[in-house]
Amino acid sequence: MQVLLLRLCKALYNKKVKLSKEESKDFEARVRPYLNDPKVFRMNDFVAHGKISVLAHSVNVASMAYKLDQKLKLHCDKDTLLTGAILHDYYLYDWHDARLFINIFKMHGFTHPEAARKNAVRDFGVDEKTQKVISSHMWPLTLRSFPSSKEAALVCLADKICALKETFQRW
Ligand SMILES: [Fe+2]
Ligand SMILES: [Fe+2]
Repeated sequence: MQVLLLRLCKALYNKKVKLSKEESKDFEARVRPYLNDPKVFRMNDFVAHGKISVLAHSVNVASMAYKLDQKLKLHCDKDTLLTGAILHDYYLYDWHDARLFINIFKMHGFTHPEAARKNAVRDFGVDEKTQKVISSHMWPLTLRSFPSSKEAALVCLADKICALKETFQRW
């Protein structure tokens, strides 16, 4: 199973895994309401990795998580999975701002999942399951915030694949 998962991650990283027409339609229908929301669109003002905006990164993570769910047949709750993926970095500030690096435990990597979770509750009233997806996406960095559902585990994994890809390669 672990070998299969690694192979799938590698194939996803190399963009060899494609969604069917039906899957693509379903994915687009589910993420479109968020992409049409001006609150979500504010993520376009901030850079995630390389030259990729936080919004583009979040859409990449959502797509990657959706593909993982389809290919592994995990039957995740799609609303939880995609809302969590789209909003997992909904922290709404420029993390490159040096003033934010006050001490190591206040560094962006440790603190932004909680900032994103609070913003997602404030702006979208997301449920507890979705909050868990957002708050645990940086595990194992945030050691105590463990991905405790399959939706959380997929977003956590998809985030890492996308961050690697965005940092070292062009999409
Ligand atoms: Fe993040
Ligand atoms: Fe992320």
